[in-house]
Amino acid sequence: MDSSTQSTVFNVPKLKLSSSSGHLNMPVIGLGCAVDKSDTDALKLAVLEAIKLGYRHFDTAAMYGTEKALGEAIAEALRLGLVSSREQLFITSKLWCQNAHRDHVIPALKKSLSALQMEYLDLYLVHLPISSKPGEVGFPVPKEDLLPMDYRGVWEAMEESQMLGLTKSIGLSNFSCKKIETILTFATIPPSINQVEMHPVWQQRKLIEFCKAKGIIVTAYSPLGAVGKIYGSNQVLENEALKEIAKAHGKTVAQVSLRWIVEQGATVVVKSLNLERMKQNLGIFDWKLTDDDYDKINQIPQHRLIPSDFWVSPQGPFKTLEELWDD
Ligand code: A2P
Repeated sequence: MDSSTQSTVFNVPKLKLSSSSGHLNMPVIGLGCAVDKSDTDALKLAVLEAIKLGYRHFDTAAMYGTEKALGEAIAEALRLGLVSSREQLFITSKLWCQNAHRDHVIPALKKSLSALQMEYLDLYLVHLPISSKPGEVGFPVPKEDLLPMDYRGVWEAMEESQMLGLTKSIGLSNFSCKKIETILTFATIPPSINQVEMHPVWQQRKLIEFCKAKGIIVTAYSPLGAVGKIYGSNQVLENEALKEIAKAHGKTVAQVSLRWIVEQGATVVVKSLNLERMKQNLGIFDWKLTDDDYDKINQIPQHRLIPSDFWVSPQGPFKTLEELWDD
C-alpha cells in the first residue's frame, strides 16, 4: 500500500450514543474489519493508512478473528503518534454465539480486550439473537449446536460489562424490531446501537423508524453488498439507478450508497483494504442527494443480499427466516 500520494485528512462527523457511560460520540463511518484470515497482515497496514486518512472508528468481532491484528495496528499507530491516545478512537467488538450465555459474556469480552491490547471497548454488541453450545468461537456454527438465547441473562451481563467499565456502550446486531422490543422490556441500559445489513437494495425502512423512536442508532454493515466475498453480491454496485445518480453527481456508486445511509441518520462500517477506496469512502460529506435521487432510490426493489440460512434449522430456535427476522 503506497501512501506517498496521500494528503487529505478527513474529519468524519459523529453521532452521540444515548445510553453510553460518559458522552460517547460515534464517528459515522468506521472501517469494517471482517476480512479473511489470510488478509490480516493487509488489514494491519490498512488500519494504519486509515488512521492517517482520518478513520477513527474500527469494527471487529470475536468471530472475525481480526481483534489481534486490529489491536497490533492500533498499538503501532499509538507508538508512531498517528493518534495521541486510545481515547481518540472508537472500537467495536461483538459477542459470538458460543459465548452468548449469561456467565460467558464478561469472560468473552475480557478475551476480546486482551486480543485487542485494550482496557475497554467503546461498543460491545450481541452479534446475533442466537446462542450455541458453549465452546470455541467458530463459524459456521453446526446447526445441531444452535440454541435459543436467554435474552434477559445475556443482556444483564452486557449491562454489567458497561457498569464495570469494560465497554462504554452496549448494543445489538441482527435484531429485528420485535426482538429489540423484548430486550427493552427488561433493559435498565437500553441498547445504543443495532447493527444490521443496510444499503439502498435493503433499506430497512421499518427498523430505521422503530430504532429512531427508541433512541437507538442503526449501523449499516455490508453497505456495498459485501461485493467480493463468496457470499457477497454486486447488486448494490451494479444497480442502474445508483449508477445514474452517481454519474449525475460525479461520484461513485459506493459513495452514493454510503451517502444515502448517513442521510438516514445511520452510521456505517465499510470494508476496504485499498487506500484509494478507503479514501473515496470518506468523500461523502460535502454533497447531498436530491429529491430526484430519492425518487429513484425509493423505487429500488428490496431484498436482503447477505444469506442468513446458517441460523435456521428445524431443530434450532428459528425454524424459518420469517422467525429469525420477524419479517
Ligand atoms: P477492497 O478491499 O478491494 O476495496 P462491504 O463493506 O459491503 O462488505 O464491501 C466490502 C467490499 O467492497 C470489499 O471487497 C472492498 O474491496 C469493496 N469496496 C470497498 N470500498 C469500495 C469502493 N469505494 N468501490 C468499490 N468497491 C469497494
